[in-house]
Amino acid sequence: MRVFVSNIIPQPGIRLLEEAGLEITEWTEKRKLAGQELIDICQQYDAFLCVSNTVDAPFLEACKHLKVIALHSVGYDNVDVAAATRLKIPIGNTPDVLSESTAETAFLLMISSARKAFYLHKKILNGQWGFTEPTADLGISLQGKTLGIYGLGKIGYELAKKCVAAYDMKVIYHNRHRNEEAEKAFGAVKVSFEELLQQSDVLSVHTALTSETKGKFNKAAFNLMKPSAIFINTARGGIHNEGDLIEALQNETIWGAGLDVTNPEPMHADNPLLQMPSVAVLPHIGSATVETRSAMAILAARNIIAGVKGERLPNIVNPEVYNSSL
Ligand code: DGY
Repeated sequence: MRVFVSNIIPQPGIRLLEEAGLEITEWTEKRKLAGQELIDICQQYDAFLCVSNTVDAPFLEACKHLKVIALHSVGYDNVDVAAATRLKIPIGNTPDVLSESTAETAFLLMISSARKAFYLHKKILNGQWGFTEPTADLGISLQGKTLGIYGLGKIGYELAKKCVAAYDMKVIYHNRHRNEEAEKAFGAVKVSFEELLQQSDVLSVHTALTSETKGKFNKAAFNLMKPSAIFINTARGGIHNEGDLIEALQNETIWGAGLDVTNPEPMHADNPLLQMPSVAVLPHIGSATVETRSAMAILAARNIIAGVKGERLPNIVNPEVYNSSL
């Protein structure tokens, strides 16, 4: 059985695939495969370990022979899951293992925005560390402030844990369902979306990109936030409207922002967000630790191994493919 891996992934994943007797080809060029080129390659393989390529309906139709598509990510907004299910192609992902590192990234962005860290670093690089004024470049304290979480699941839980331990922050959240574990652990309080916007000092997004969440943080949402609030997004860039965010920061409708995800990605070097003192931007590195990326590679490899044997994937996005009535 032949497996195509669309980027270089950590060795523990590759080792597992080799030990399972699979023949592996890794794409080593530093450009993302897409469209017909990706189709032409995948048509020669039995399984596809997909590192953030677009898996749309035309791809799936052309590659319906694939026994499994294993994503090297927890998010699957790059995949037309309905089309894969219709074609009975199982899609696997890598849940849970990146909760801690993604929460850590949100925490890093929160402090960096609050203390203008990226901007001040740039000032030193530009030779601008001059006369110190007691009223210049002031940040804001996070102690005892309110953390609002939009989509309190595993990543939001880890962030809340850090914020409560470090700064004794109060936790509010907006979810469809209650998170009783977080309510018990941190006294987290479920609020409406409007209340989340109005009451959060730091508002952090931890939800999937769906038709419901796309563009959710727009002008109307930023207008309801505190002028001292910090907006954090480590989920998907499409959840905020970047033009509206820029305007909200320029007009001082909100105070700061920390982004690990942008729209589009990569962000253009001339984006005004990169010049703003209380903004911190990172290049989508939420899961980028040695430990997390290795764990993701292992989960993706396990999904491939199960898929080529015709077994149920350990982490399946579309379990309906196993429903015989489909
Ligand atoms: C994920 O796993 O979804 C990360 O955001 C990387 O894309």
